[in-house]
Amino acid sequence: MGDAANETTGPDLTQGVAEGALADGAMLGGRVGDDAVLLARRGDEFFAIGAACTHYSGPLAEGLLVGDTVRCPWHHACFSLRTGEALRAPALAPVACWTTLRRDGKVFVGKKVDVSPARRADTSTGAARRIVLVGGGAAGFAAAEMLRRQGYQGDITMVSDEDAPPVDRPNLSKDYLAGTAPEEWVPLRGDDFYSDHSIDLKQRTSVAGLDLRAGELTLGDGARLPYDRLLLATGAEPVRLPLPGIDLPHVHTLRSLADCRAIIARAATAKRVVVMGASFIGLEVAASLRARNIEVHVVAPEKRPMERVLGPELGDFIRGLHEQHGVVFHLEETATEIHAETVALKSGGTIDADLVVVGVGVRPRLALAEKARLAIDRGVMVNEYLETSAPGVFAAGDIARWPDPHSGGAIRVEHWVVAQRQGQTAALNMLGGKVRFDAVPFFWSQHYDVPINYVGHAESWDEIAVDGDIARRDCAVRYKRHGKTLAVASIYRDIESLKAEVAMEKARGAF
Ligand SMILES: Cc1cc2nc3c(=O)[nH]c(=O)nc-3n(C[C@H](O)[C@H](O)[C@H](O)COP(=O)(O)OP(=O)(O)OC[C@H]3O[C@@H](n4cnc5c(N)ncnc54)[C@H](O)[C@@H]3O)c2cc1C
Ligand code: FES
Repeated sequence: MGDAANETTGPDLTQGVAEGALADGAMLGGRVGDDAVLLARRGDEFFAIGAACTHYSGPLAEGLLVGDTVRCPWHHACFSLRTGEALRAPALAPVACWTTLRRDGKVFVGKKVDVSPARRADTSTGAARRIVLVGGGAAGFAAAEMLRRQGYQGDITMVSDEDAPPVDRPNLSKDYLAGTAPEEWVPLRGDDFYSDHSIDLKQRTSVAGLDLRAGELTLGDGARLPYDRLLLATGAEPVRLPLPGIDLPHVHTLRSLADCRAIIARAATAKRVVVMGASFIGLEVAASLRARNIEVHVVAPEKRPMERVLGPELGDFIRGLHEQHGVVFHLEETATEIHAETVALKSGGTIDADLVVVGVGVRPRLALAEKARLAIDRGVMVNEYLETSAPGVFAAGDIARWPDPHSGGAIRVEHWVVAQRQGQTAALNMLGGKVRFDAVPFFWSQHYDVPINYVGHAESWDEIAVDGDIARRDCAVRYKRHGKTLAVASIYRDIESLKAEVAMEKARGAF
């Protein structure tokens, strides 16, 4: 998170800018009073909106104009130039809009105006009066927010077995764990949001059963909760290895804010951590604990970290990056037993450790869907509208396997932005819309000062094309099969990443 884009530098846009200075499709960052404002030109139209992305304040002026929208360079949120609406997650709040006026070959930015977001679903036709969202995570929260944004006035109940309201989960392995994020960054919204928007958030409440015929859920305490439309967004849970010592108090996994706080509490006195697994989460945890000056050892069975997802070139880079920061890797190695002060390795050695974090992957939480006999295939099967095999019951996020028009396969991913966008699409469809989920998958990961952005989806490839210089942290890595680019990973090539996303959208005829 940063405030760069909120800084009010650049020209005073109320004084006017020569029209010719802004080419078609160009953007200019400036200011209006104390506000940082983006002036954008599309054809003969000029737009003025807030210059800072409402996700983590990314500089929209450095993003990409696509039609009458602007995409954020950092994590690909998308805002309407006409209304300021956050059209695509991870931004969920709008940016402000200003009037523009053309006079004497100049364009002037005028007053701040309130513009209502466009209705994307006809809420009058939907018969739903009671919508229940199971899960207080990325998908569940984004769905609730979109339902109210679209003017839905019926009941919304969000049931979550976490003891915190929806949080910015990606931050839990990054700044918050590193100790560089203030508490207020963590909740997606303050407590007022739920009461102000009449969202009945039931925390610390588990859903134990789903009766499709009766249209009701059974809660952990036996209470029944009827619904007209239901969203299952139960996410995933960390895999717990069946290892001797896995239940010792200094052994942790990381999914929830409570998990993160438990690791932070241990980290206060820990000297050396063993991170089991060189996954994204495992390595982000490694980076964050290095920021706390804890010695970090990573134990993982693979030859190179993240090779399965990012290939050998980026895998080697990530390994080197972590080593430069003092991380010690024990690759092609597994732990066989955890003791109070050591971790025993298969190769025979031991590592001293007073903290162990297990990051060996997650499993989708399918129990509810399985018991209700929804169609399951390594995830809850949904159609292009994110509806499960039971009409009126939708699924989104880490549990959902959806028909991805880009790869042509039914895929399930574990990405924050995908979960949020699916929650939003499911919300529109619960209101009676017929909106296909066809977003290009996107995720990001952060290691020290190196962000990695990834668009598309490539489970396997026959060619990796590296453009730029990975070691210099300036590259776009393309994963191809039969000459077709399936995915692009990039470091500090934000525009290229956005353009790759647009190209993938075009390839399946979105334009
Ligand atoms: C530490 C961490 C860092 C991450 N960083 C990134 C990142 O940088 N980039 C990225 O793209 N992705 C990242 N991810 C992955 C991303 O957070 C997930 O893909 C995303 O949260 C999935 O959203 P979801 O709504 O499906 O599930 P979740 O956000 O996990 O929400 C599921 C919710 O359902 C609740 N629940 C489940 N079962 C029940 C039940 N029976 N009754 C009641 N409640 C229930 C859970 O408690 C939880 O509140 C990260 C994940 C973690 C854990
Ligand atoms: S800062 Fe804009 S999408 Fe994250």
